[in-house]
Order: sequence, then C-alpha cells, then structure tokens
Amino acid sequence: MSLEQQKRLFPPIARLLNSHLKLRILFSHLFLFLLTFGLVLAITASFYLNSFSVIRLTTQFSHLTSPSSPPSIPSQLPPSLLSTSSSSSPPPVVHVGRIELKGYIDPDVIGHDMSDEELLLRASMVARAHKFPNKGTRKVAFMFLTKGPLVMAPLWEKFFRGNEGLYSIYVHAHPSFNETVPEDSVFFGRRIPSKEVKWGQLTMLDAERRLLANALLDLSNERFILLSESCIPLFNFTTIYSYLTNSTKTFISSYDDPGPTGLGRYSHGMSPHIKPEQWRKGSQWFEMDRPRAVEIISDRVYYPVFRRHCKSRRSCYVDEHYIPTFVSMRFSGRNSNRSLTWVDWSKSGPHPARYWRGRVTVELLERMRSGSVCEYNGEKTTTCFLFARKFLPNSLDRLLKFAPKVLRIH
Ligand SMILES: *[C@@H]1O[C@H](CO)[C@@H](O)[C@H](O)[C@H]1NC(C)=O
Ligand SMILES: *[C@@H]1O[C@H](CO)[C@@H](O)[C@H](O)[C@H]1NC(C)=O
Ligand SMILES: *[C@@H]1O[C@H](CO)[C@@H](O)[C@H](O)[C@H]1NC(C)=O
Ligand SMILES: *[C@@H]1O[C@H](CO)[C@@H](O)[C@H](O)[C@H]1NC(C)=O
Repeated sequence: MSLEQQKRLFPPIARLLNSHLKLRILFSHLFLFLLTFGLVLAITASFYLNSFSVIRLTTQFSHLTSPSSPPSIPSQLPPSLLSTSSSSSPPPVVHVGRIELKGYIDPDVIGHDMSDEELLLRASMVARAHKFPNKGTRKVAFMFLTKGPLVMAPLWEKFFRGNEGLYSIYVHAHPSFNETVPEDSVFFGRRIPSKEVKWGQLTMLDAERRLLANALLDLSNERFILLSESCIPLFNFTTIYSYLTNSTKTFISSYDDPGPTGLGRYSHGMSPHIKPEQWRKGSQWFEMDRPRAVEIISDRVYYPVFRRHCKSRRSCYVDEHYIPTFVSMRFSGRNSNRSLTWVDWSKSGPHPARYWRGRVTVELLERMRSGSVCEYNGEKTTTCFLFARKFLPNSLDRLLKFAPKVLRIH
C-alpha cells in the first residue's frame, strides 16, 4: 500500500470493533469524517473564502470534539481546499473568541492560548496556504528548548545584536520557570506556551513540534534551528546566517546504527509503517527548512506510531529516532545527514562530555570551528559545526573573553 493510501485510510476498523469504548471512538471518527465532508463542501461552494475563514471553520470544527477523544483532526485536508482558499483579497479580521486570528501570524505576538492540536493545525494551514517563497526578509528561527534560565544568554545577546530583522527567537522553558527577562534582552517576550518535558519521552518531541509550529506562523522564517541552554554559537551571526540561508541541504543527523542503542530500540509494533531497515538514529539538535518543518508538524502517520510505542516504555528515546527516521524515509535527498551542533560522545554513557570553565581554551574552540572535514553544497569544507554543546554555566566568562578574537563575536 502506498503512503498516500495509508494516510487516507482510517484506523483498522476491525480492531476498533472489539469493545464498547472502541466502538465509541469509531463513531467519533465517523462523526468527524462527516463534519470534514461538510467542511469540504462548504468551502468548495464558497470559493471566495480566503485562508483565514478556512481556519476559522476548522477551529470551530476542532472545538466540537471533546478533549479526551483520540486525535481529532483527520489525516490532511485535500490540497484543493487550500488552493481555492488562496485568494488575493485582504484577509478580514476574524474573532475566534480569544485573540484575533491576525495576531497568530503576527511575528511579534507569540503568546496565545491555543491547544497543541489547534496550534499544529493552524500552523500547517497557514504554512500550506502560503506555498510561494516569501519575497521579503528571510529570517532564521532560533528555537531554544530549555528547562530553566538561558545561562549562555550574555553570549547570545552579543551574537544577535545588530542583526535585528534577520532572526526570530522562540523559547520553550519548563512551565513552572518564572524568572523574568529584562526588557532590553533579545529574549524578552519570546517564550512560547509550554508543557513539561521529560528526557527521552514523547513530551520532548511535542515540545519540538510546538516550537516549530510557533516559528512557522511567522512567514518570513525560512530556516529553523533547535538549540538548548548549554549550546553556544561558534561563529558570528553573519557567517551562520549565510551558511544556513545559502544551504541546499538541511542539517539533520540521521544514520543507521545496528547496535543496541540504535536498532535495539526499534519495536516490531511499528511495522508496517516503519520497517526495521528504515529505522534511523540521530542527534536531536536539528536544522531544517520550511518544507521539512511543515511536514513534521503535519505528520499524522508516523507520529501516532511513535506515540503508541512510547506508551509502553518509560524511555523511548523519541528525540533520537523520530525526526531522523521520518526525514530519512521522506526527504533523504535533501538532507546532509549531519548535525551542525558539535558534541563530544568520546566517553561512553548516556550523556555527552560537558565543558566546564577549565576545559574552555582557544584550541578547543578552534578545533570545534574548523577541525573537521565535511561537505557543504557539494564542496569539501572545514566549517562543519556552527554551534556546540554542552557548556556549563561556569564556562561563560571564559567564552565571553574569547568571543571577540576567536568566535569573531563582538
Ligand atoms: C517563582 O516560583 C517560585 C517557586 O517555584 C516562588 O517561590 C516564587 O515566588 C515565584 N516568583 C515569582 C516572581 O512569581
Ligand atoms: C564574522 O566572522 C567572519 C569569519 O568567521 C569574519 O570574516 C567576519 O569579518 C566577521 N564579521 C564581523 C562583523 O565581525
Ligand atoms: C550567501 O548568503 C548571503 C546572505 O544571505 C549572501 O550575501 C551571499 O552572497 C550568499 N552566497 C554565498 C556564496 O555565500
Ligand atoms: C543520507 O542518508 C540517506 C539514507 O538514509 C541516503 O539515501 C542519502 O544519500 C544520505 N545523504 C548524504 C548527503 O549522505
């Protein structure tokens, strides 16, 4: 069966029939199907509706489903739906009962009260409705997935300063983290609504998808990079910006690891959607372009497979397998298969080496910047890593000291 066919099919009906509860789920799917069908009819009839009205209809639709029901939104809306909706008339301001919809695609408004489902749906619809390349500024989205404070903030402040308009920042911190950011900081007002994240679990992937969806709502974001609080930039903004915006490939680490921490984590329950030979491993710290980001937040085939599989395990290492596997199955031609974030796994164990104050030297930084060989746009280069981890808070003063001369960050 082709991927397209699989996507359009509903969950196997026979399995749903074996209990009363599951029967109810089936009815809710049928109900949703009829609703969607009605939605399609309504939209086809009113061809003049623009994308914003479509989103409003869909929002109302998603409100009809109870929060405890299974994933409520059917596979994907037919592309025709979106092409009829891309009219050129100016979007009317639509009230959805909370923030005006316009606010959701305003790059300066990132606080909202959408559920994850609404956010992902809205982001994928906004992104798909604007298929053509954005002609204005091209921005790079820096997405920080953190627990608490951004300890390397003073270095990042220097990095971003003077490059306003070329970047957007998004921070996903633990919901209980309540430290405030000074108003003159580049991180001020850049926190997105978040949920608790547990290492190795599905909540980690959910946070990544939340960051991507928020960043996709800003149509000028073209490249998307995931960072943590222990990451530092290895080059100045100009160098990183042109490296990313000129790249013909994405930078998502993805490789085949036949060992116990690779294929050993594969579950046969994932077949036939994911076969053992399709299983990949990779670093969580990705860099991708808009089309890849849209596919990841709209995936309704592989994400449910991982979710089902994760329920039965305390640690399913979803952050090391979901994106590497998905990208290798769907876009391997566009991916470099390497990460841009330096990390030292030379000591075995579940966590990589950490750099404290005493380990930060000019030699170390130079080695990270230009001590490797890789390919960039079809040519050999020694600029393979643009970021590095894991730096401990006490290394900050040394990093700031070396920043102007070594990293060329002033
Ligand atoms: C932040 O949270 C801590 C407990 O986690 C609490 O003691 C403190 O008062 C809170 N601070 C603010 C400014 O809300
Ligand atoms: C940025 O770094 C590059 C080398 O990495 C250097 O050639 C360039 O002059 C630097 N730009 C600034 C504004 O310092
Ligand atoms: C890369 O991008 C920058 C800015 O986006 C541009 O100035 C530069 O000419 C591009 N080409 C190369 C080969 O760096
Ligand atoms: C990346 O890996 C895939 C297999 O997953 C392969 O088909 C592709 O050629 C690789 N790309 C590069 C640039 O090595």
